[in-house]
Amino acid sequence: MIDAATQVFAVIGNPVSHSLSPVMFNRAFSETGYNGVYVAFQVTAIGDGMFAIRSLEIKGASITIPHKVSILDFLDELDPMAESIGAVNTVINHEGRLKGYNSDCLGAVKALEEITPLEGKRVAIIGAGGAARAIGFGVKSCGAGLTLINRSISNGEKLASALEADFIPISELGSLPFDILIQTTSVGMTPHIHQSPIPDTLLTPGLLVMDIVYTPLKTRLLKDAEKAGCRTISGMSMFIHQAAFQFELWTKNPAPLAVMKQSLMDTLNNPRKNHS
Ligand code: ATR
Repeated sequence: MIDAATQVFAVIGNPVSHSLSPVMFNRAFSETGYNGVYVAFQVTAIGDGMFAIRSLEIKGASITIPHKVSILDFLDELDPMAESIGAVNTVINHEGRLKGYNSDCLGAVKALEEITPLEGKRVAIIGAGGAARAIGFGVKSCGAGLTLINRSISNGEKLASALEADFIPISELGSLPFDILIQTTSVGMTPHIHQSPIPDTLLTPGLLVMDIVYTPLKTRLLKDAEKAGCRTISGMSMFIHQAAFQFELWTKNPAPLAVMKQSLMDTLNNPRKNHS
């Protein structure tokens, strides 16, 4: 029940109307008996959003596209990992002082390390955007070797140099001599569900393939990977683990992972809604 002591949390981005986070966090609050509510705010100017967080004493926020980098100018403190990545997707409000974290990085590492340790592994990431940057930083800090694979050479080389990683243009990809392949572009996302960024013939058994796209849950790449005998991790795993980190940071309670997963599955399987 919402009362005068209810703590407010929000996802802040633009657009946010299709966000899966409100349903998932509200189920998690109710399951654990935490007196909180989670809403979605479409915000154009992130500075105004942070002003509102302070003035309305909103306890915490998930930050999404397009604000993950521009928010840095409006925070009081940064977690060192978020500072190194240069992007924030989680904010906690400590009595008016706003501190930023990057749970995308931690969520991806957790999703991978649930299946296999990263230390010493040969990891390749497809993409060179913000998600590739956060995940690349995470896998490198766990002691993995990193190669970036990207469509545009200039973007790929730039991020590879920042992460001290190798780089291969996607057009020159002849084989995948890696232990783990992580797909971070929007290729394969609904409605383009038949697209994959790489030919299925490159996939070989032994490779662990993770896609961060979770609409659909099983992307074309993951289907191809399963057929080729690879182990796979869906985008839902990273999404849940990054949200679990936020839940624990905000409430200091362990996240109810099973309930969060079930609520996501329920929403994704509900054909009446169209999520992006
Ligand atoms: P985010 O910050 O969410 O990771 P982004 O910054 O828009 O997203 O990054 C998108 C990444 O997906 C880029 O690496 C982009 O490749 P380019 O650097 O060549 O632009 C990649 N990407 C997007 N659409 C793609 C497509 N159809 N095929 C291959 N790569 C694509």
